Amino acid sequence: MIHSFITDLLAHPKVIETHQHMHHSISKHDHLARTARISYKLARVMRADIRICVRAAMIHDIDSRLGTLTTHGRIAAEWAAAQGESDEVCHAIETHMFPFGPKPRTREAWVVSLADKAASITDLTLMVSGMVTGHTWQRRRMLQQSDPHFVALSQRRHQRKHQRRARFAQRKSVQ
Ligand SMILES: [Fe+2]
Ligand SMILES: [Fe+2]
Repeated sequence: MIHSFITDLLAHPKVIETHQHMHHSISKHDHLARTARISYKLARVMRADIRICVRAAMIHDIDSRLGTLTTHGRIAAEWAAAQGESDEVCHAIETHMFPFGPKPRTREAWVVSLADKAASITDLTLMVSGMVTGHTWQRRRMLQQSDPHFVALSQRRHQRKHQRRARFAQRKSVQ
């Protein structure tokens, strides 16, 4: 049922690539999908528009690395607007980090903001319990290999190491 609201989003390359991105030590896709499921349930309880809530939840952290704690909601909302999402969906995305960012003005925006917090608590609980079983480290290692952010980071580290070695070797040859 929930899928019927977001079939197109689930097939979008930008959403698909979140399977490879790390967020709260799990895949960002898992976090987005959890937020969407909680939004679906909350929207029914709070009598909010389910479609708006679930669509906003499924893309609320897209490109979050391009912003900060307080600005990434706006970045994701701008992306959503460029995709043709409604003002209501964009507003719910923009305010999902409240109180770290603008205050939600609609029922739907409150749903997404609360669902994001509930999903994040679950993500972090899984992260901590996974530290005991070892799953968290295993997952982190896998995501660090697939997430372009971490791949670029390790390449830069590698480069710096090589540069340091080259400088050291040069200094030795001069002596
Ligand atoms: Fe966020
Ligand atoms: Fe989030």
